[in-house]
Amino acid sequence: MTGDLRFLIAEDEPLVQELITHALSDLQYSDIHVANNGQEAFEMVSTLEPDVLITDLMMPKMGGIELSERALESQPDLTVVVTTGNGTVENAVQTLKLGVFDFVTKPIDLDTFQSSVQRAAARARDRIELNGIRDVIDALMAALESKDPYLLGHGKRVSIMTRRLAEYAGWTKQKVRLLEYAALVHDVGKIGIPESILNKPGPLTDDEMELIKRHPIYSHDIIQPVPFLKEALPYVLHHHERIDGKGYPHGLAGDEIPEGARIISVCDTYDAMNSVRSYRPGVPEEKILVVLEEEKGKQLDAYLVDLFLDNLESIKVGPHSMEPKKLACV
Ligand SMILES: [Fe+2]
Repeated sequence: MTGDLRFLIAEDEPLVQELITHALSDLQYSDIHVANNGQEAFEMVSTLEPDVLITDLMMPKMGGIELSERALESQPDLTVVVTTGNGTVENAVQTLKLGVFDFVTKPIDLDTFQSSVQRAAARARDRIELNGIRDVIDALMAALESKDPYLLGHGKRVSIMTRRLAEYAGWTKQKVRLLEYAALVHDVGKIGIPESILNKPGPLTDDEMELIKRHPIYSHDIIQPVPFLKEALPYVLHHHERIDGKGYPHGLAGDEIPEGARIISVCDTYDAMNSVRSYRPGVPEEKILVVLEEEKGKQLDAYLVDLFLDNLESIKVGPHSMEPKKLACV
């Protein structure tokens, strides 16, 4: 099955437009759209949501580099192939750093181009499949969180804030993607904790606390068989470690804690205080900010807390839209 993907060609030369369209049709693709310049292509990216963008570098109105950068910003799963004259190969290589998938030199050799398209198509299908898996994970997490009304939407909120904080910390798009998954499922291990303990209104006994402290290990074990989450395992396992070494499950300290886990930890802590829990109401924002400041170098990574607080308005996600109605009467 090859005709399942949508292609957008950004190219100002009619002859090259024709050549690329023909090469795609030859591979049995039929959902093909053409933009005559970068600006037009950028607008079509948001309206058409193509799976693959094939763009020239030198175009009127907006060049291929700016187009690739802006298109990937608005649609991170887009697969981009750049076509370029020999004189601009260096520029094309630069686009790889932006997340462009491949580039093909002009004049276009049909075989080379078609094999690049096939690789791009395989990658685009992987992205579609991955998004399907993500939807399933979202649904499973929602089911799990419904066991504990106070946690409803927690994974999703932490995952959104984690993505934003990781971007501020300079993480690449690919690494951010993986970290987002880790943040989404970081508490999935709570499925192994009885509801009576999760929802207990009041202090926990030592034994109950010991059980709660096992949830990062349970989360780790649950996602371990999923191949594409393999690199996310340490982020999940260590999301309750503390910079001062007094956290769990392994008591790691400072840089021994993977940075991804430290990022999740800041966002998790913010969301935990910002949400109503069975044992207390939500904490006012001024108080949350004071606590985050105080925990710098103790529970939390000082650099990441500063980065979080400096960009609070564009990172934070409020719990309100996802809170169950029940919370109104707690
Ligand atoms: Fe947790």
